Amino acid sequence: MSKEIVTLDEFIIRRQSDFDELTGLLRDIGVAAKIINREVNKAGLVNILGIEGGANTSGDTVQKLDMYANDKIIECLKKSGECAAVASEELDSFVEIPPVLGKKAGYVVVMDPLDGSSNIDVNVSVGTIFGIYRRLDPQKPITMADFLQKGTALVAAGYVIYGTSTILVYTTGNGVNGFTLDPGIGEFCLSHKNMRIPKSGQYYSVNQGYYLKFDVEMRRYIDHCSDMNYGLRYIGSMVSDIHRILFQGGIFLYPNTRKYPKGKLRLLYECNPLAFVVEQAGGKAVTMRSNRIMAVQPEELHQKATIAIGSPETVAEMEAFLDKYVFKSY
Ligand code: AHG
Repeated sequence: MSKEIVTLDEFIIRRQSDFDELTGLLRDIGVAAKIINREVNKAGLVNILGIEGGANTSGDTVQKLDMYANDKIIECLKKSGECAAVASEELDSFVEIPPVLGKKAGYVVVMDPLDGSSNIDVNVSVGTIFGIYRRLDPQKPITMADFLQKGTALVAAGYVIYGTSTILVYTTGNGVNGFTLDPGIGEFCLSHKNMRIPKSGQYYSVNQGYYLKFDVEMRRYIDHCSDMNYGLRYIGSMVSDIHRILFQGGIFLYPNTRKYPKGKLRLLYECNPLAFVVEQAGGKAVTMRSNRIMAVQPEELHQKATIAIGSPETVAEMEAFLDKYVFKSY
């Protein structure tokens, strides 16, 4: 007996109650993801179609893929009229979306349109990360405060991974579901229902090349992972690393380094949305100071954060390990 295919659109309609008034907004993101997927898949042809930043055979300028993804998502978000403004890792400040007649634009979106984009040239998976907040007051003009909300205020978040297959994973705070793009019918189909992260895992994911740039306690923790025979896996594309950990368990780390004393990853665009997904799958996400990522109060749009995220027991074990070294000295 063949299994029933549930497309993203059908799923959104069936679970309408989970979505408040953002059904159209999530569908806009789904449409943008399909368009970006098509473009990412063509990336290997840049030498034929024209080098990014240069001119193509028709003489038009070829846009860099991360800017292309940025513009495409914003363009798609104009369709439903549910999104009032967007803040993106690619932009200095937020941009407002023109209102659609008769629609209440009750939400703002934060996004990293193409995370890990430096991997594209070598055919490694990249992704889109997004988070959705309710506007503080839809009767008042949008301000920075609409974006500087803690992760705990997120109403939805997710990511799209453009890999061997293209998968959209998201949560509205009621579990995590994943949809795989069926290229034959051009639809995201429910493929991973109610995703749960393993309680612990034997993989750690960190840029070990920075070993000597980490604080001593982090170096000791990495030694400990090695002592415990944990496997090291690091793609260098956060979405892909987190996606793997959601299935296999383990821990992803981006600690402070000498080069990035506050961490490298962005709190609003990367850490919070992925923390929401991982927590909803039963995982844990904290800073190197053991603060829950989603409880950190953002002070600015492009704020950076350190992060340890993954299986709940593995992250808790890391916290207990670091606690022996670091917290007593603060
Ligand atoms: P970019 O989008 O500039 O390629 O950055 C990717 C991010 C994140 O996805 C990844 O985990 C991290 O940067 C990798 O950074 P390092 O190269 O410093 O390890």
